[in-house]
Amino acid sequence: MLSEKSIVGVIGAGAMGSGITQVAASAGHSVFLFDAKEGAANNALKKTESSLNKLVEKGKMSQEDVTALCSRITVIDSLSGFASADLIIEAVVEILEVKKELFSALEKVVNASCILASNTSSLSVTSVAAACTNPERVIGLHFFNPAPLMPLVEVIPALQTKDGLAEDCKSLMQAWKKVPVIAKDTPGFIVNRVARPFYGESLKIVEEGIADMATVDAAMREKGGFRMGPFELMDLIGNDINYTVTETVWKQFYYDARFRPSLIQKKMVESERLGRKTGKGYYDYGENAVNPVAKTDDDLSSEIVIRVLAMLINEAADALYYKIATAEDIDLSMTKGVNYPKGLLKWADEIGLEKVLSILDSLYIEYHDDRYRASVLLRQMVRENKSFFN
Ligand SMILES: NC(=O)c1ccc[n+]([C@@H]2O[C@H](COP(=O)([O-])OP(=O)(O)OC[C@H]3O[C@@H](n4cnc5c(N)ncnc54)[C@H](O)[C@@H]3O)[C@@H](O)[C@H]2O)c1
Repeated sequence: MLSEKSIVGVIGAGAMGSGITQVAASAGHSVFLFDAKEGAANNALKKTESSLNKLVEKGKMSQEDVTALCSRITVIDSLSGFASADLIIEAVVEILEVKKELFSALEKVVNASCILASNTSSLSVTSVAAACTNPERVIGLHFFNPAPLMPLVEVIPALQTKDGLAEDCKSLMQAWKKVPVIAKDTPGFIVNRVARPFYGESLKIVEEGIADMATVDAAMREKGGFRMGPFELMDLIGNDINYTVTETVWKQFYYDARFRPSLIQKKMVESERLGRKTGKGYYDYGENAVNPVAKTDDDLSSEIVIRVLAMLINEAADALYYKIATAEDIDLSMTKGVNYPKGLLKWADEIGLEKVLSILDSLYIEYHDDRYRASVLLRQMVRENKSFFN
């Protein structure tokens, strides 16, 4: 049973590992941090300390709390330092073979009851677990970037995970002041599956010349209520990362047209226009850059928002149909993991399921593309005059 006294290990001191370390230490755990690259874990700890010191300057945290939090983190230089750990969270590179090798090596040093968790965004937790002699102890704990700020954690039991472990992890994540949801081990889990059309359908709209990217971004922000437009967000995430997630989910769904990536985005990656981190993506972030201006056309904005929204709702409905998570957890995931202004299923109820279905069916008739096939659940619910909530 995991508790606040549990000793936590974190492997990988990159963006995610350092954030998770901070979250665990902040919840009072002793944390051991390891990174294969020399100096990386110490550098990550220094960065955490300096970002926490900024909170002290702003009066949001006391110096004593920062000192106490950092004193709970110990950098170790080999896996054997994890011998006393009760829970280890892995946040190394997103390569299945690397994660499998790591889990197999870990089993040789940790005690029999130690839980091994992966922060993978898109790999199969079941496949990672298969590398272990005791796969029952393996689970996915998917944090969102930046981990100290984003509340959502997807808890993903593998096919082999022992009964009760997901609930146990869920309680621990609540103790860490996170919002945990339990998701089935399927491609993209909840968020990275349901959010695909936010990018994919927006890219399709641009590809077809229905609107340019600045107009799509403005529509999604101003009419849709999203914090950022899809192109601005892809530039922030990094087009390489976003494209890889899309491609991985599409391949894992046996090339389902609903998840098909866009050639526009592929070209962005090929030309290394990766977004903010390279100074150029869909937009130019250089000094004196001239960027496209959104068209003000109310009808066009409404058309863009309802089309992207209908596609998002369709994925949320399909995730529910396949019991990836409960309706409440699907909605929580999108508001707490990617800051959507509303849960998609609640939004669907407000728009009316019949209207959502008719948008999807019109697109399907127009394109004859499987990409626009409506979820069976949506069709059944319209037939039975049901709504997702109440
Ligand atoms: N960045 C995100 O937005 C995000 C969000 C959720 C989940 N994830 C997942 O979290 C994991 C880490 O992502 P990241 O963005 O922090 O990556 P990153 O590149 O910032 O950091 C990875 C770290 O792991 C270290 N590392 C690599 N192989 C190792 C090994 N065998 N043993 C020990 N250390 C090793 C690297 O030196 C590096 O410091 C990936 O599985 C990723 O899919 C990323």
